[in-house]
Amino acid sequence: MPAHCAPQTLSITRPDDWHLHVRDGAALQTVVPHTAAQFARALIMPNLKPPVTSTAQALAYRDRIHAAAAAAGHSTFEPLMTLYLTDHLPPDEILRAKDAGIVGVKLYPAGATTNSDAGVTDMRKTYATLEAMQRAGMPLLVHGEVTSPEIDLFDREAVFIDTQLIPLRRDFPALKVVFEHITTREAAQYVQTAHGAIAASITAHHLLYNRNAIFTGGIRPHYYCLPVLKRETHRQALVDAATGGSPRFFLGTDSAPHATHLKEHASGCAGCYTAHAAIELYASAFEAAQALDKLEGFASFHGPDFYDLPRNPGQITLHRESWTPPQSYPFADTTLKPLAGGEVLHWRMA
Ligand code: DOR
Ligand code: ZN
Repeated sequence: MPAHCAPQTLSITRPDDWHLHVRDGAALQTVVPHTAAQFARALIMPNLKPPVTSTAQALAYRDRIHAAAAAAGHSTFEPLMTLYLTDHLPPDEILRAKDAGIVGVKLYPAGATTNSDAGVTDMRKTYATLEAMQRAGMPLLVHGEVTSPEIDLFDREAVFIDTQLIPLRRDFPALKVVFEHITTREAAQYVQTAHGAIAASITAHHLLYNRNAIFTGGIRPHYYCLPVLKRETHRQALVDAATGGSPRFFLGTDSAPHATHLKEHASGCAGCYTAHAAIELYASAFEAAQALDKLEGFASFHGPDFYDLPRNPGQITLHRESWTPPQSYPFADTTLKPLAGGEVLHWRMA
C-alpha cells in the first residue's frame, strides 16, 4: 500500500496477554503497570522461586499483582492465575483451583527453562492430576520442549510434539491444551490441523525476529529466550499462523523480565522483555505482513474464546507515530533492558 494510503490509527477491542511473567516483590512495580496499561487481563506464569503450586499461593500472588497495578492507576487490570504442575501436584488441588477461578495449570518439563527445576520429570507421574484437569475442564498450558541433552536445542520443540504432546493428547483426548509460545513451522502445523481442543500462543519477538538476531555483530543476549528464536522459514510460518485468522492462535507475549546484569552474563538468563511496547510490537509484525485487519482477532478475541471467558468491553487505539522506547527501566534495585529499547517504533498506543 502506498504510504499516503496506509491507516493512521487502529482501534481494536482491548486485548489480553495470554502468557506473561511478572516476577514478584519490588519488580512488580516496573513490569505490571506496563502490561496493565495495554491489556485488560494477563495470564500470569507460576515459575516463581519457589513455584506457585497451590491455590492459596496463587490467590496471594494475584493480590500482590493487583496491588501493583492499582498503585499505578490500573485498578481494573485482572491477573489470571495459573498453577505450576509438578510430579506431586495433588488431583484434589485442581478442584480447589477451579472453584477459585484459577485459569490453567502450567507444564514445564524439568530443566526446560527459567525456574523449571521443580517441573515434571515424567508425564506418567502427573496422570492422576491430568485426569482431574480433563474432568474439571482445566486447561494444560505447555512449555513444549524436550530437555534431553542429546537433542539439538533448535529441535526441542519439534521433538516434543512427536514424543510428548501427541501421546499425551491421545491419553487425554478431552483435555484442553495450549501449546505456549510456539516457535516452529511444525508446531504451527500441528496446532492448525490437530483434532480436539488445542490452541497456541505466539510472542511478538518470534514474529519479528529470527535466530540471526542473537548473533548480529556479536552475541546479543537480549534476544535470547526459550524456546530460542528459530530460522527464517519458521518465523514466516508463525506469521502465517498469527495472521491467518484461525481462532487457534492468539497473543501471548511471554514478556520475561531479567535484570540487565543477569542477561549480560557469561551464562545469561533466557527471556525477552516486551511488556513496555507489546501491542506496538505485534502491530509492527502484523503490518509487515499486511494483516493489520487480523490483529484484533488474534489479540482480543481468540484467547478469551478458547478460555471460555468474555471478550473485553472497551477499545484501545494505536496511532501511527514514531517513538523510541527507553533503553532501560528501573527494576527493583537494578535495571531492565527492554526489547527494541532505543529503536524507533512506528505505532504507539494512545
Ligand atoms: O525465555 C523464557 N523466559 N522462556 C521461558 O520459558 C521462561 C521465561 C522466564 O521465566 O524468564
Ligand atoms: Zn514464559
